[in-house]
Amino acid sequence: MKNTNRYTLTAALPYANGPLHIGHIAGAYLPADIFARYQRLQDRDVLFVCGSDEHGAAITIRAKKEGISPQEIIDRYHQQIKDTFERFGMSFDIYHRTSSPIHHELSQEFFTNLYEKGEFIEKETEQFYDADYDQFLADRYVMGTCPNCGHDAAYGDQCEACGSSLHPTDLINPKSTLSGKAPELRSTKHWFLPLDSYQAWLEEWLIEGKKGEWKTNVYGQCSSWLKSGLQARSMTRDLDWGVDVPLPEAEGKKLYVWLDAPIGYISASKQWALDHGKEWEPYWKKQADEQDNSRLIHFIGKDNIVFHCITFPSILKAHGEYILPDNVPANEFLNLEGKKISTSRNWAVWLHEFLDELPGKEDVLRYVLCANAPENKDNDFTWKDFQARNNNELVAIYGNFVNRALVLTQKYYDGKVPAAGELTERDEELLKVIDLYPGKIAASIEKYRFREALSIFMDMAREGNRYLAEVEPWKVVKEDPERVKTIMNVALQCTAALAIASEPFLPFSSSKLKGMLNLQDKSWRDLSRELLKSGHQVEKPSLLFEKIEDELVDQQVQKLENSKKMNEGEAASPELTPLKEEIQFDDFMKMDIRVGTILSAEKMKKSKKLLKLEIDTGIDKRTILSGIAQHFEPEAVVGQQVLVLANLAPRVMMGIESQGMVLMAEDTEGKLVFAQADGKIGAGSTIS
Ligand code: MF3
Ligand code: ZN
Repeated sequence: MKNTNRYTLTAALPYANGPLHIGHIAGAYLPADIFARYQRLQDRDVLFVCGSDEHGAAITIRAKKEGISPQEIIDRYHQQIKDTFERFGMSFDIYHRTSSPIHHELSQEFFTNLYEKGEFIEKETEQFYDADYDQFLADRYVMGTCPNCGHDAAYGDQCEACGSSLHPTDLINPKSTLSGKAPELRSTKHWFLPLDSYQAWLEEWLIEGKKGEWKTNVYGQCSSWLKSGLQARSMTRDLDWGVDVPLPEAEGKKLYVWLDAPIGYISASKQWALDHGKEWEPYWKKQADEQDNSRLIHFIGKDNIVFHCITFPSILKAHGEYILPDNVPANEFLNLEGKKISTSRNWAVWLHEFLDELPGKEDVLRYVLCANAPENKDNDFTWKDFQARNNNELVAIYGNFVNRALVLTQKYYDGKVPAAGELTERDEELLKVIDLYPGKIAASIEKYRFREALSIFMDMAREGNRYLAEVEPWKVVKEDPERVKTIMNVALQCTAALAIASEPFLPFSSSKLKGMLNLQDKSWRDLSRELLKSGHQVEKPSLLFEKIEDELVDQQVQKLENSKKMNEGEAASPELTPLKEEIQFDDFMKMDIRVGTILSAEKMKKSKKLLKLEIDTGIDKRTILSGIAQHFEPEAVVGQQVLVLANLAPRVMMGIESQGMVLMAEDTEGKLVFAQADGKIGAGSTIS
């Protein structure tokens, strides 16, 4: 067991290719932040790093989809993700980015270090190639069915459903995400890390070394990969976006994103050290005395396990100077209202939208995501549960206790903490809770059992709430005001302890409560001491949490329903007629579209479809035969303003000349509606 005081904490670098949703938060970031805040409260030397992962096919594919450059994509999402994390109270020491020069340099240094040691195998292999696009198809550019779990949208390097790491050629039915066609194979040279030669070492370090220590979901995944035998993996790619491979014969090739991204933890640490005049090496490199090595802990979601438990440790080991992870407490996935979160189908609660739409509820979300964290198995987030946990736990238990304690202190003592007299057994009982519970919370956090830790915290608040309900100071005050002083002193000590113990989980309300208590800079160790001296002044309280009404959660559920409907609409849209051949601006400009008014309308004999319309176009009055008879009664359209294509060559139908066309649109049910035409009669078309 190390006796170091130093903790190097990392949270998975999110791809800068889209916004964050609650699944990301529950998987990696919230547990990481709770852990970091807790360790700081324990006065440990913590370096907590994160940043944007800005390379790889995830970025270039997104750029292509949005029709902008990869640089624009990463600039946009890096900023957005960074801001969102900050608003949510993530306490990173640095939020860096892998597009920075310091990161490119360090990644190349790693590659060169391993290259010079002869750790790579240079191989000419057959890779998927999209001939339509003239490009090799790295990783996410190929999709197909996972050979392990049958998931039908697995990527070329990884299946996100079962977490397994893949080769593009492992996929069943591989398709290029560019052309949609089955790719062909072409030969290209790459540098492979022979993971098979690390197998024996991994079995010793991980399988034997981490047994019983690492979470079973993580350990289980690792041991099943090791059982099926590791294979060499290419550490370079044919891509035009990423860190250049630092070899003259590798022109145009880039480092594999999963080689450079985890090195991003280290480059972020270097940047942090530069910014603060500190040293980064103690957080990453082996120390002369092994006892002194920093504890390295990676917080990630389950789809990242293989890279953090197998690949990156092998790279660190090969390099030789670096420490290895102590633990990788990966979480499983969070579902939303019973369904898998899906970015593409917009089945998600986006964090930035949550912060905009439910301001001041950061801690409620943190509470619910932690209480429901998918620690050992996938779990579900529902808005009903969000509301219930807020109303029944945060408001009714914790908030209620704190509020009573503070309101009564104001009322009886003008906010001055009263001195305690002789303690009853009941008082002693509560003080024991305050003494014991922080230790229990700490023990759970140290074991990465954050749900358990949070529920112990809530039990602690529950004990306080129960105490007040039992001793009823508001009644006793009439006969025995001296006794009430003791009660309120005890209740306030408990309140102060909750303010400190809640900090890792609920930092916003913790700091609000500390503010009301005038409680400054306390650490976890202070929890065993008397936190508020008699005579200490506390402030007038305001509510820590407010009840959430049905309306608010109904709105959120409705929002999800809407995106479901839109998806169903889209799914039904194969019947949409395909886009016609491209036309030029000049083609469009040839059309003379005018605003007109229907003067009269009548059914055409022998035609179900046609109405004969007289239309005033401002320049003339003309007859137009329009195929709207099944959608409108003639009387209903008289007086209607319409858009008329006025310079269409006349056509004779059923013996009558039609002089133009009326522009219509189909609504969602396939019914015809008039194209909007609220204009001056005779006005021509403009484009904007
Ligand atoms: N960007 C990856 C993802 O979102 C995670 C990278 S973690 C790091 O799945 F180790 F590479 F940093
Ligand atoms: Zn799979």
